[in-house]
Amino acid sequence: MTVSEPGALDVASIREDFPVLDREFDGTPLVYLDNAATTQTPQQVIDAISEYYETYNANVHRGLHQLSQEASIAYEEAHDTVAEFVGAAGREELIFTGNTTESENLVAYAWGLNELGPGDEVVLTEMEHHASLVTWQQIAKKTGATVRYIRVTEDGHLDLDHAKKLIGSDTKLVSVLHVSNTLGTINPVADLADLAHAHDALIFVDGAQAVPNRPVDVEAIDADFYAFSGHKMAGPTGIGALYGKQAILEAMEPFNYGGDMITKVTFDDATWNDLPWKFEAGTPKIAQGIALAEAVEYLDDIGMEAIARHENELAQYTLDRLAEFDDIETFGPPAGTERGGLVSFNLGTVHAHDLSSILNDYAVAIRAGDHCTQPLHDKLGVAATARASFYIYNTREEIDVLIDAMDDARELFA
Ligand code: ALA
Repeated sequence: MTVSEPGALDVASIREDFPVLDREFDGTPLVYLDNAATTQTPQQVIDAISEYYETYNANVHRGLHQLSQEASIAYEEAHDTVAEFVGAAGREELIFTGNTTESENLVAYAWGLNELGPGDEVVLTEMEHHASLVTWQQIAKKTGATVRYIRVTEDGHLDLDHAKKLIGSDTKLVSVLHVSNTLGTINPVADLADLAHAHDALIFVDGAQAVPNRPVDVEAIDADFYAFSGHKMAGPTGIGALYGKQAILEAMEPFNYGGDMITKVTFDDATWNDLPWKFEAGTPKIAQGIALAEAVEYLDDIGMEAIARHENELAQYTLDRLAEFDDIETFGPPAGTERGGLVSFNLGTVHAHDLSSILNDYAVAIRAGDHCTQPLHDKLGVAATARASFYIYNTREEIDVLIDAMDDARELFA
């Protein structure tokens, strides 16, 4: 395959870092377009995991021996690397969690259960992912708070006039996606933070689809909380992060209790460790955290501005190619509007699951379904969509393979 180089990325050499991209199915090369679900892993990150297990595997903060010291230093420094990557002041503001969903639950349980009550409101958006939507629904039920939703417009943006009406004196928290995993919309999170703060509310930003593919500065956004996942940014599964403003994290109760999150324990009570360890109970995700830092360095070397350009360019190319066909419906902002690197669409009346199965025959991997945004799909009036999502190693030629493979689906379902 001839590899094009949209934006400033050297896609050909990036592809060499990802062993899985060499896979073929019955002689057909893999076209991996399911990156919003999970990205592939470069050799550098795989090596970081291997090196940890081969040379310094030990528990952290618990041993005076050499291996434990090496593991502790690497694990702690991983927090610094990831914190710096998103513009946090330091490791005190950066907690390693299992994923974005766990970060959301950490805030919901450790902050929401204590701070919310009857009459309070949590403002979400109609494009919210289940990670936030289900979590705050359940916390609202437990506390008597109410969940309200900022409307999504016909063209896939948040209705900011509606947001201004919804966010008010009863609002205690606004929780919003930075980039929609279904529509690709890039939300004005700094404006929403201003709006929340004007009413003394906090803002939680779900950056699972933003940190992997654009520069993020949590301080510039003025986010109170910001969450993301390692496996969507060339890192391993099982690791995510929660940024929180230090003063807010200091004031919060722990989420999980146990080892390492304490300073002093008696038969009657306990006191809590410093940040971020107060929120990392038990043996933490040591190998995963170290590997996430390696992924961050890998992305930083490529350059986040260039990655954002590349993803937008591929999304715009996909929208242009799909617009050639009358039987395709696309969702999200129209072509020409900058978006995250994904496009959701439907082919006529072909169910997205059927389309995905047919594309699989061409070794094309996409996601089909509701993408963990069922209420948004209800609003869009569709049960499911097909979604092609891109990363640093994808090319225009791969999108052409996707488009050509869809002809088969047309013939089968004609
Ligand atoms: N939230 C992930 C996705 O959009 C799993 O596919």
